Amino acid sequence: MNIYKQRRKTVLKQMQNDSVLILFSAMAKTVSNDTQYPFRQDSDFYYLSGFNEDNAVLVLIKSGEKKRVVMFVQPKDKMMELWTGKRAGVKKVKNDLSIKHVFSIKKLDEKLQKICQNKKAVYFDLFNKDKLIYIHLVVSKVKDNRSLKFYPRSFLDAKEILHALRRRKSAKEIALIKKAIDITKKAHHHAMSIKKKDIYEYELQAEFEYMFKKHGAMQDAYTTIVAGGNNANTLHYTSNKDVLKEGELILIDAGCQYDMYASDITRTIPVSGRFTPAQKDVYSLILDAQKEIIAMVRPGIKFSDLQTRARELLCSAMITLGILSGRVDDLIRKDKDKQYYPHSIGHYMGIDVHDACPYKDENGEELPLCEGVVLTIEPGLYLDVNDTSIPKKYRGIGIRIEDDILVTKDGHQNLSIGIKKEIKDIEAYSLM
Ligand code: GLY
Ligand code: MN
Ligand code: MN
Repeated sequence: MNIYKQRRKTVLKQMQNDSVLILFSAMAKTVSNDTQYPFRQDSDFYYLSGFNEDNAVLVLIKSGEKKRVVMFVQPKDKMMELWTGKRAGVKKVKNDLSIKHVFSIKKLDEKLQKICQNKKAVYFDLFNKDKLIYIHLVVSKVKDNRSLKFYPRSFLDAKEILHALRRRKSAKEIALIKKAIDITKKAHHHAMSIKKKDIYEYELQAEFEYMFKKHGAMQDAYTTIVAGGNNANTLHYTSNKDVLKEGELILIDAGCQYDMYASDITRTIPVSGRFTPAQKDVYSLILDAQKEIIAMVRPGIKFSDLQTRARELLCSAMITLGILSGRVDDLIRKDKDKQYYPHSIGHYMGIDVHDACPYKDENGEELPLCEGVVLTIEPGLYLDVNDTSIPKKYRGIGIRIEDDILVTKDGHQNLSIGIKKEIKDIEAYSLM
């Protein structure tokens, strides 16, 4: 059975009786006037359909023992296809996606009203206002029909079912993530090897985008961050507009998306290819902390355990560097470390770079990691150039080191171990 069919079957099993689950594809997004962003499919819709067109809707129906899958897609249209590209159309979707009931999207309103008759619940993206208004309209019309036995009285969150399923990656998904990481590795190594002095950050960003596409990844998983010097201390620096200067570090957070699956890698490297002694001090302490946290990853451990240890290690690093003084536990209790390490240790990664999987169970208890989870480990220290409480030699240094980790049956596998991060390896790889 194809994987999408298998996933739909699993979801149908979990839906309550006499219910409908409605999933909308992404829609093409406008940049300005009539130009559009590159299309990116909705992750949940893709997870259950494998279909990569916009303006489509997938419906799963469960009535007692009877289960049905219905899909609405854009119909073939010669004139529209001449402008915007080929569409699969109803017939091809029926064949290619092994879905029996496929209709033109033009029939959505009428058919959806029928589908919702005599159902007790509708699952959809409950927290999307536009979807909520649309489903509300459909169900209101169903409710007006007094000859029906039931109308949907419950609106339920489809994402609760879907995101729990997305948490454990299958072998096929892990293979795609590995492929994405492999392409990203080529781009990071390329960046290490080329001359960077006096070029613009956006030029280095372009090198990444070129390498991604050259090796078969059409899109990046998020906007590439190329942050020279003190720009690294802006966590989501994406303007990439400054010139890279000799003596500075560059924080590069860049990962491609391959066949819808993300990679998310940060390396911090010297513009000139050589770390200064002060940069080495900070870098080595963060790298040691990152290795220790990665070593902790195994089934049963929680993100909060990893974060607690990361804070201890980074706080103690900051004492060593003379940035903080006092006892680690006191400093952490007073959140003194958060000024310099303000984010969390990592996140799930998959179809979305920040994969939309649950961190807590239905009782609000944190979920421990389990086999098949993919997460990032990304400690960092951000030492602003204008912060006079930091020893002068460390001001303006911002460093993050990020790898992608798979939780295995009895431990973990660092999927991005091949991307150089030891000082000696980065220096050896860089242009002299
Ligand atoms: N690239 C985004 C992040 O590291 O979470
Ligand atoms: Mn990340
Ligand atoms: Mn990242």
